[in-house]
Amino acid sequence: MSNEGLSNLLHEERTFEPSEEFRAQANAGQELFDRAAEDREGFWAEQARRYVQWETDFEQVLDWSEAPFAKWFLGGRLNACVNAVDRHVEVGHGDRVAIHWVGEPEGETRDITYAELHQMVQRAANALADLGVGEGDTVAIYLPMIPEAAIAMLACARLGAPHSVVFGGFSAEALHSRIDDAGAKVVITADGGYRRGKPSALKPAVDAALAHDENPVQKVLVVQRTGQDVDWTNGRDLWWHEALEAAAETHEAQAFDAEHPLFILYTSGTTGKPKGIFHATGGYLVQTAYTSHVVHDLHPDSDVYWCTADIGWVTGHSYIVYGPMTLGATQVMYEGTPDTPHQGRFWEIVQDLKVTVLYTAPTAIRTFMKWGTDIPAKFDLSSLRLLGSVGEPINPEAWMWYREHIGADRCPIVDTWWQTETGAIMISPLPGVTAARPGSAMKAIPGIVAKVVDDMGQEVEKGSGGYLVITEPWPSMLRGIWGDPKRYQETYWSRFPDAYFAGDGAKLDEDGNIWVVGRVDDVMNVSGHRMSTSEIESALVSHPKVAEAAVVGAADETTGQAICAFVILRADAVAEADSQAAAGEGEKLVQELRNHVAKEIGPIAKPRQIMVVPELPKTRSGKIMRRLLKDVAEHREVGDVTTLADSSVMSLISDGMQKG
Ligand code: WT7
Repeated sequence: MSNEGLSNLLHEERTFEPSEEFRAQANAGQELFDRAAEDREGFWAEQARRYVQWETDFEQVLDWSEAPFAKWFLGGRLNACVNAVDRHVEVGHGDRVAIHWVGEPEGETRDITYAELHQMVQRAANALADLGVGEGDTVAIYLPMIPEAAIAMLACARLGAPHSVVFGGFSAEALHSRIDDAGAKVVITADGGYRRGKPSALKPAVDAALAHDENPVQKVLVVQRTGQDVDWTNGRDLWWHEALEAAAETHEAQAFDAEHPLFILYTSGTTGKPKGIFHATGGYLVQTAYTSHVVHDLHPDSDVYWCTADIGWVTGHSYIVYGPMTLGATQVMYEGTPDTPHQGRFWEIVQDLKVTVLYTAPTAIRTFMKWGTDIPAKFDLSSLRLLGSVGEPINPEAWMWYREHIGADRCPIVDTWWQTETGAIMISPLPGVTAARPGSAMKAIPGIVAKVVDDMGQEVEKGSGGYLVITEPWPSMLRGIWGDPKRYQETYWSRFPDAYFAGDGAKLDEDGNIWVVGRVDDVMNVSGHRMSTSEIESALVSHPKVAEAAVVGAADETTGQAICAFVILRADAVAEADSQAAAGEGEKLVQELRNHVAKEIGPIAKPRQIMVVPELPKTRSGKIMRRLLKDVAEHREVGDVTTLADSSVMSLISDGMQKG
């Protein structure tokens, strides 16, 4: 963000206090901050015993002696699935709806109670066990937003088999590398899912991912969702419904060590290779349940909660599956997009199911703003009492629109900062305590210590900017990068001494509130999805016509950032491109490259813009100066070029832009 943008943010003076009514019923009050400040470990021990049912109680809260490798709740044993499902049935809440599932085709719904969920996870666990899945075996999950996605995750957790969910928008290639890296024994997928009114196939991507000579996968379980035709590999592929039917009805769950890995989730880093972030069972469950309770303020006996994220991202893991379900909450799960079959779909769902707590992303809010206020105005949104935002900075305008047009100027908004790596919410208002400021995630929640530091790791003064760090370990922190402990240490714990570096830039305002302004590394945030510039660059240069590529995230009004690529063509491709351009078909090559990126990574990684350029701006040591390319992509005057090896390169690029 430009300096001007930043100072505008810091002049935001509006604050919104929770109403007396909200405050009176809120799960968390000021005393939580006081207690955590007085004895942090004692505080976490209390939360751990409050939110989680331990089969064996823990003996020690934290072992940080091998920092940055943490162990939480040592000696404790638990089963995450029992916590999220069985125990609600045991205490008599079996009839409570766990999931109000809403399919994309209108009218297609399923309500699943906790008792039904209990039956399904037991059968699914038995079915997986019948395929040889046991403690420590990894299972890949590649599913649309259907209840089976949550059931599959919970069944894995029940067996102590770490799941690795791969977002359905990733390509066969991306799926292949994730399956391989995690060593998944079984893949759970579906024939397809509904996307914008049409069935969209998933199984072919799994087939293609497994077509590689060597892969660890022995079995593929296929959920029937759309009924479309699928290719079948006998001996490897099984229908999910048949496997569950054949499996035993009851499953006795075993407890696992608090540090037993619960799941792996791949996320983009600054290099081409995605990182397998893995989380441990105990600490993760404690902090997701705690934050669902104090930040989302869930009242399981009365709320209808809806998190609009996809289960393929960490938000879906923490705030569809593990947090809300550990509390025994009722939630909505929606299969489709916000504009299918009409742009009021979200609000229709809120109205029909009387949603009380809504958790969505700034990019969605900005899209709704674009569609116009008359759309939500047609629906009765009076059931809503709390709104949440996650995934990227929310600009004050979007925040205000959300508050006024969705929240009737009445619902508190929690802007929650966290990451795949942090596992759960870290910085956020507490809705019954904090007087929130539009655009700021405010302060670290009780139990978390976050700071903004300068280049030297010193805390910045109020009113200044720097880097966001976490200075104390927290229960749901990642336990590492799957198979690469060194990379874990180097990526997160080496930039500043004794602190976790999140990769985000932030500012502290005069009141000590934190304003997260975005990544300071080569990671982009497109519609709340994390994308690596170098991963997309690698995809581009793997195309035979491309010699070199540089990718930047350019500011975009709706998606936050948009992917812009600059490519240099190989000599033999230049002539062809020139003649295409001369024939007015310059778009052809760009389309070809965009599709290539979709094939290598997934449609979500397609660049908005690809510009063919004669040169790329590089320093004398050969590093691409993305900052200058960003200036071009954002139509700004190009900044300081004095460190370029060849300072004329930028005018070549800009001239080309004007022509093109
Ligand atoms: C990155 C993490 C958090 C789950 C979804 C994304 C950005 C996230 C906020 C927020 C400003 C935010 C950061 C962070 N981010 N929430 N409330 N305000 N920025 O998880 O894919 O791991 O991405 O998302 O840049 O580092 P993720």
